[in-house]
Amino acid sequence: MNASPEKYDPIARLLHWLVLVLLIVQFGIAWTMPEIGRDSKPEGLIAWHLSVGTLILLVIVLRIVWRLTHAVPPSPTTIPAWQRSLSRLTHFLLYAILLVLPVIGWGNASSRGWDVSLFGVVTLPRLFAQGSALGHELGDIHALLATILLIVAGLHVAAALYHQFIVKDRTLARMLP
Ligand code: HEM
Ligand code: HEM
Repeated sequence: MNASPEKYDPIARLLHWLVLVLLIVQFGIAWTMPEIGRDSKPEGLIAWHLSVGTLILLVIVLRIVWRLTHAVPPSPTTIPAWQRSLSRLTHFLLYAILLVLPVIGWGNASSRGWDVSLFGVVTLPRLFAQGSALGHELGDIHALLATILLIVAGLHVAAALYHQFIVKDRTLARMLP
């Protein structure tokens, strides 16, 4: 048996850990920024939330393009088929949420009449007209989806720890430097 199964390629590993760091920063901002209401302005921590979110959107698009154009190392054959299917489903869900969550936040920001930019360098077009009812609804969906992301990512991290400390295989090593 191969004692050191192939790792994910360096760019895939870099993007994986970069997204983790950006998410920690983004949740830190989301939980400390002022409550967003009708009269809020996109300033201070709220502006940071929009810019870091835009950066996450950019990185996740790059990551998905990279994933679709580069081979993934085969998972160890010791892992039962149902667990491999479950991990594929979880990974797909994580990618899908990471793509949809920032777009929904962007839609909500548009309906508030806020311009979304990447730290003031590039400004994104508005997805909805100011005052759009649908764009407004997206605010609640955005917060709900962020909670779902935390739950799915929590399951993912629990699975990684289970492989590392209980099964004691080299799954985690596939994603480490
Ligand atoms: C993966 C990236 C993102 C995560 C994890 C995230 C997370 C969150 C969370 C947890 C909240 C709720 C804060 C609270 O408790 O009140 C929130 C609110 C909000 N976020 Fe994000 N966000 C992300 C990206 C974005 C982006 C890209 C934008 C806009 C460009 C955005 C705009 C907003 C707005 C406008 C709200 C207030 C929603 C409302 O209460 O109506 N977010 N975000
Ligand atoms: C301490 C935190 C984390 C650890 C230890 C960890 C560990 C891992 C490991 C070991 C893999 C490879 C799985 C395999 O070989 O099949 C992986 C893949 C993956 N991780 Fe994480 N992860 C963490 C956080 C996150 C977070 C926060 C996200 C996103 C929200 C995430 C998204 C993904 C995705 C989408 C894959 C699939 C890669 C692919 O096949 O394209 N991870 N992670």
